[in-house]
Amino acid sequence: TRSTEISLRVNGETHSLTVDNRTTLLDALRERLDLTGTKKGCDQGQCGACTVLLDRQRVNSCLQLAVAAEGREVTTIEGLADGEELHPVQQAFVDLDGYQCGYCTPGQICSAVAVIEELAREWPSAATDDVRRPPAVTEEEIRERMSGNLCRCGAYVNIVRAVTQAAK
Ligand code: FES
Repeated sequence: TRSTEISLRVNGETHSLTVDNRTTLLDALRERLDLTGTKKGCDQGQCGACTVLLDRQRVNSCLQLAVAAEGREVTTIEGLADGEELHPVQQAFVDLDGYQCGYCTPGQICSAVAVIEELAREWPSAATDDVRRPPAVTEEEIRERMSGNLCRCGAYVNIVRAVTQAAK
């Protein structure tokens, strides 16, 4: 099989590595870069445990080839905090107990960060002289947008609360 030398930009750092062309982004992150915060659940695009941000859009990293991520910006759960300060979405999950076993949490949080950025894009604050604010984001809307991230413990109530809180 063919291998390719790629340079992967992850959480602001560039890594050079040679990968089998079939290597998924998920396996490259976990096995080659030791970024094991990103979890492997189904490995088939069904559960969302492996969610990372690719150019700030959420993707299931088990469905992406590492070679296709070359030249793009990958952000994983390890890249969200600012030093000792948790990202506001991480803090909301802590404050509102948005997890039980924690396995799906990195994917939930990466997905939530992207959802909140999506909402901000859909409601640009450039409402000129009028200071209209977007309507409050509802839990239903968050639940719908987070539906690709499964939680086997069924901790959805607190997950949805945490994301809704972070979206305010
Ligand atoms: Fe990628 Fe389940 S591990 S979606």
